[in-house]
Amino acid sequence: MTQNLTQSAMDGRANSYAPYSRFKVGAAIKGGSGKIYTGCNVENASFSLTVCAERNAVFQAIAAGEEFLRTMAVVGGADDDEALTKPCIPCGACLQVLAEFCPPDFPILLADGVHMLCEFLPKRFGSFDAEEEN
Ligand code: THU
Repeated sequence: MTQNLTQSAMDGRANSYAPYSRFKVGAAIKGGSGKIYTGCNVENASFSLTVCAERNAVFQAIAAGEEFLRTMAVVGGADDDEALTKPCIPCGACLQVLAEFCPPDFPILLADGVHMLCEFLPKRFGSFDAEEEN
């Protein structure tokens, strides 16, 4: 199962548009329905407009109508070997976007095994759930 999701993340990575950094990232998310959504990083000549693979995948899933997300795999690196052996930890912006839709124990599959969202983002900003969460 985890093997499949990693493969889907690699499939997403194949579409990465990263002519500036040459660092290709892919993400795959399994939605509540069981369907898998992939994403890749999409860079821009105006660098700050770049969108990460993880956010791309989250938005695909939500836009398709998924009400919750089950799990995610992320792969990233300059080449396939690096992507499959070196963990690519989601950036802070992507962690905050994941926190909007996922519980603290949301599983994130990286090259070195399964992690939980709360490992990378122990506290999260939330305007609606400030009392419970912070
Ligand atoms: N990148 C991602 O896609 N996800 C992350 O979590 C970290 C960084 C992308 C953005 C940029 O295209 C490239 O990796 C180098 O920073």
